Amino acid sequence: MSRFTGLCLFVLAALPHALADVDVSGIYGLVERRMPRHVGKFTLKGMDGEGDAFVISDTKGHSGGVTVECTTTNACARGLYTYVTEFGEVDIWWTGSRLHELALPLPKVGKPVSGSAIVPYRYHFNTVTFGYTTAFCGFDKWSLLLDWLALRGVNLPLAWNGYEKILIEVFQEVGLSDAEIFEFITGPAFLPWNRFGNEQGSWGGTLPVQFVEDQFALQKQILPRMVELGMTPILPAFTGFVPRAMASHYPNASIVNGSSWSGFLTALTNDSFLEPFDPLFPQMQKSFITKQQEAYGNITHFYTLDQYNENDPFSGNTSYLSSVSSNTVDSLRAADADAMWVLQGWLFFSSETFWTNDRVEAYLSGAPSDDSVLILDLYTEAQPQWNRTNSYFGKQWVWCQLHDYGGNIGMEGNLPAITQGPIAALHANGSSMVGMGLTMEGQEPGNELVYDALLDQAWSTTPLNISDYVTKWATRRYQVKSLPLNLKEAWGILGSTVFSNQDLASQATIKSILELSPDTTGLVNRTGHHPTKIPYDTNSTILAALELLVQTSKSTPALKTVPEFAFDIVELSRQLLVNRFVDHYNNLIGVWNSTSSSPRDVLLAGQPLLNLISDLDTLLFTNENYLLSTWISDARQWAHGNASYAAYLEYSARNQITLWGPDGEINDYASKQWAGVVGEYYGARWEAFISTLVGTKTSGQAYNSTVVKQVMLSIGETFSRKTWGSASEETWGTKGDTFTVVDVLLKHWT
Ligand SMILES: *[C@@H]1O[C@H](CO)[C@@H](O)[C@H](O)[C@H]1NC(C)=O
Ligand SMILES: *[C@@H]1O[C@H](CO)[C@@H](O)[C@H](O)[C@H]1NC(C)=O
Ligand SMILES: *[C@@H]1O[C@H](CO)[C@@H](O)[C@H](O)[C@H]1NC(C)=O
Ligand SMILES: *[C@@H]1O[C@H](CO)[C@@H](O)[C@H](O)[C@H]1NC(C)=O
Ligand SMILES: *[C@@H]1O[C@H](CO)[C@@H](O)[C@H](O)[C@H]1NC(C)=O
Ligand SMILES: *[C@@H]1O[C@H](CO)[C@@H](O)[C@H](O)[C@H]1NC(C)=O
Ligand SMILES: *[C@@H]1O[C@H](CO)[C@@H](O)[C@H](O)[C@H]1NC(C)=O
Ligand SMILES: *[C@@H]1O[C@H](CO)[C@@H](O)[C@H](O)[C@H]1NC(C)=O
Ligand SMILES: *[C@@H]1O[C@H](CO)[C@@H](O)[C@H](O)[C@H]1NC(C)=O
Ligand SMILES: *[C@@H]1O[C@H](CO)[C@@H](O)[C@H](O)[C@H]1NC(C)=O
Ligand SMILES: *[C@@H]1O[C@H](CO)[C@@H](O)[C@H](O)[C@H]1NC(C)=O
Ligand SMILES: *[C@@H]1O[C@H](CO)[C@@H](O)[C@H](O)[C@H]1NC(C)=O
Repeated sequence: MSRFTGLCLFVLAALPHALADVDVSGIYGLVERRMPRHVGKFTLKGMDGEGDAFVISDTKGHSGGVTVECTTTNACARGLYTYVTEFGEVDIWWTGSRLHELALPLPKVGKPVSGSAIVPYRYHFNTVTFGYTTAFCGFDKWSLLLDWLALRGVNLPLAWNGYEKILIEVFQEVGLSDAEIFEFITGPAFLPWNRFGNEQGSWGGTLPVQFVEDQFALQKQILPRMVELGMTPILPAFTGFVPRAMASHYPNASIVNGSSWSGFLTALTNDSFLEPFDPLFPQMQKSFITKQQEAYGNITHFYTLDQYNENDPFSGNTSYLSSVSSNTVDSLRAADADAMWVLQGWLFFSSETFWTNDRVEAYLSGAPSDDSVLILDLYTEAQPQWNRTNSYFGKQWVWCQLHDYGGNIGMEGNLPAITQGPIAALHANGSSMVGMGLTMEGQEPGNELVYDALLDQAWSTTPLNISDYVTKWATRRYQVKSLPLNLKEAWGILGSTVFSNQDLASQATIKSILELSPDTTGLVNRTGHHPTKIPYDTNSTILAALELLVQTSKSTPALKTVPEFAFDIVELSRQLLVNRFVDHYNNLIGVWNSTSSSPRDVLLAGQPLLNLISDLDTLLFTNENYLLSTWISDARQWAHGNASYAAYLEYSARNQITLWGPDGEINDYASKQWAGVVGEYYGARWEAFISTLVGTKTSGQAYNSTVVKQVMLSIGETFSRKTWGSASEETWGTKGDTFTVVDVLLKHWT
């Protein structure tokens, strides 16, 4: 491909991403891991060119071989991905890698195919993903996830693991005792909110040093893998959030209390913040970054640093705000001259009344030049901020899809926004957009379509054609040469309805009321953050698609062995059931609220809710992706066989997905439709609720929502204190056959 003269090459050699000697060894490593039968079939090599670009072709003189030429390591991964997905009908999913199923001999490419990224940065993760999804992942899961990222062309991932190891050393260095430091650090499932300065301290016991050490060791595996896959990790920095005791060690230091977060007691929030203009701040920053460079090498200039995420500044004075940011960036640049400050832009949306345009401008203008800050426009698919801030006043920013609050499970997507939106923003007058990426709070596999679509859009100059895209996506998902008509129709329906949801009031996973603390009012039709309003008609979408998939499973039984096909059957059935739950709930409330109903009428109206919950639990138990036991065993693995440490980890894991806080401060925020949660926990809550309703009829005593809430919290407390395996019916693995179970469910719940 190279048509450059020697002179041009010399000039280009001065630019990054223009060198022909691209290190592709990490991508060969990926082939060995995921496609051991295909080692030796692929030739990967560098080529000259700008940006991230690749060409795939049949290898000359090697029949059955395929060559990927690329300008960067990451483009090589993306080129390989283009080959396996476009020519091989295989992919790597959050539900597992199917790349080893790629045909042999390799399908021919024919006319060479080229591709290039339309933006320099493809970003992945949200600080809270490290709580909701990866809090307890071991390196095996990380390895799969990093291959998933690299193949899709992500080159700028966030990398938070092990942060506390270095932070603690910095605190020790300024004279804090270990007791003072560990009073500040949160429990293992809650570290992201400590990093954000939303929370401090823990409930359920102090974080063991062992956890800090193990996460640091894990980071030492994650970072080299990221680098070898062509990614530049975004590493943490010193934020300014410090233990309370800092103020007594340094009475003259400028330390202020942050705001209170989500109703937590002051002891657990209102984190102390060392002002960046205090001389201690740059000193601690320098120490932090130097230690980090010593630990991991000089692998990045990108630093994630959020001081005001759901945490309002001490003052709204614009000179104060620009002083905070200019001192913050100065501290970074004193430690690393090329430092780039990366911040999540959620604050500008969530505290929009505080963050007026003047304040946003003042805060961002504190960063000395346009190349010192990178803003993640966090929720661009529904609540973009770049368009109200004049493209962040010229600072660089990334178009991000937020999606999935709290790692909830619920089908939803806005394909029109994520395909047309980024292209429009890139071409907007004065645009300073430089990247596209995913900032989901949690990664749940039911909506993988919309994550793939955005990362694929980053390699297409025109908006993807949604119907074509969805068909191709389903074709490789089910590993078929061409998609059976029934499946094409099913995905055509889903792609144009459930996944093309443009109702801005009900975005980013629709939460099921089944997972909410039961009550007689306020559950259905919620909009905004954590909507429960279902923005599509269930019968003509979810049910219609499910019936088509089930029919196809009977006519083409081979599909049953494709894990993603079985997963989708469970996912659609799950969605059908939880949507039907709303109808039965409305009926129950109607019956209860009627003056003429008897206690028995209420009991009978409540029964379908309990039956549905039980059926849903049975369904979820048939698929390994919906098990509470996985979350728990991932947590417990870090205890190295120490039973009390394992119980501590399990409590943290369970508390996050239920009460979220010692007293249910953000109860149900990270709720999960998992086998083991649905039957046992939501089942117990709804049973208690229904008997309360029946009780009001028998005793004539008025329904009291406050009392019911207390009852629900105590059920939550009991559930989160449990340890897995204490009930005889519990099993760590799956039970039951999906297709048999779904046949029965369809008879009951259509
Ligand atoms: C704090 O400031 C006061 C008044 O300027 C000074 O007398 C004192 O020595 C300072 N204390 C420390 C620990 O620096
Ligand atoms: C911050 O909060 C703590 C705990 O309530 C309090 O003791 C301290 O005085 C506060 N500090 C400031 C500077 O307001
Ligand atoms: C905690 O934050 C809230 C506001 O968010 C504030 O009213 C309160 O005074 C703070 N408490 C302390 C001790 O700083
Ligand atoms: C903002 O702070 C500056 C510097 O402390 C001060 O001169 C100015 O009066 C303040 N502005 C307002 C509106 O309080
Ligand atoms: C990393 O960069 C720092 C300056 O930012 C430098 O002092 C140090 O020697 C570098 N370390 C390595 C291993 O290159
Ligand atoms: C920005 O775009 C969003 C989504 O299209 C729209 O709802 C919002 O009104 C726009 N804001 C401004 C200030 O133009
Ligand atoms: C784009 O913005 C520039 C500077 O703000 C302005 O001069 C120019 O007229 C704009 N162009 C269009 C097509 O709006
Ligand atoms: C998408 O492609 C299909 C044919 O494959 C075509 O019928 C449709 O009009 C295209 N949609 C758009 C928006 O271009
Ligand atoms: C019960 O019915 C009354 C009268 O129709 C209505 O105002 C009220 O909202 C209903 N309550 C509930 C909880 O549905
Ligand atoms: C929820 O919205 C649906 C559709 O708009 C409506 O039919 C229903 O009455 C609403 N239910 C409640 C309880 O508001
Ligand atoms: C959906 O189908 C069910 C079962 O056939 C039916 O009871 C219900 O009325 C339908 N709902 C709508 C909105 O058509
Ligand atoms: C509901 O119960 C709470 C707590 O027991 C009590 O304070 C409140 O007065 C009760 N409300 C009503 C309307 O009876």
